[in-house]
Amino acid sequence: MKIAIAGDHGGFLLKNELIKHLQELKIPYIDCGTDSQESCDYPDYAEKACKLVLSGKVTYAVLICGTGIGMSITANKINGIRAALCSDEFSAHFTRAHNDANVLALGARVIGPGLAVSILDAFINSKFEGGRHERRLEKIRQIERSHNHV
Ligand code: RB5
Repeated sequence: MKIAIAGDHGGFLLKNELIKHLQELKIPYIDCGTDSQESCDYPDYAEKACKLVLSGKVTYAVLICGTGIGMSITANKINGIRAALCSDEFSAHFTRAHNDANVLALGARVIGPGLAVSILDAFINSKFEGGRHERRLEKIRQIERSHNHV
């Protein structure tokens, strides 16, 4: 498993906390920025990390902004990305089990670092169950294809 992690200025401090946790777990990661608390635009960082997921260079991406909403909206615009904004471990488990989510979005101004670590653990330790859920993912892919023209 390898993880891309990205945050805007609102997510910068929580990103550092989660990187420490990944280091403790010896899980390889790619830090996609940002590198400070200076104001920046979350779509730039969401796209960078999601591209790594789609290219297969990483297994998952973790995206952090103030609320997690901007990051999750951006990520879900990209075909093949299934991003889940989670503020609890239950949702983090089931978005892997049922939605095969490949991106976890977190709101650094919504949850504390301890909960964020537990949510990340629940996400990476949960497996997609397949079966009836695969049929539903295929329907999502069909919707992506049918709305793919501007
Ligand atoms: C930045 O102020 C804030 O808007 C951003 O971190 C995020 O919460 C957007 O959804």
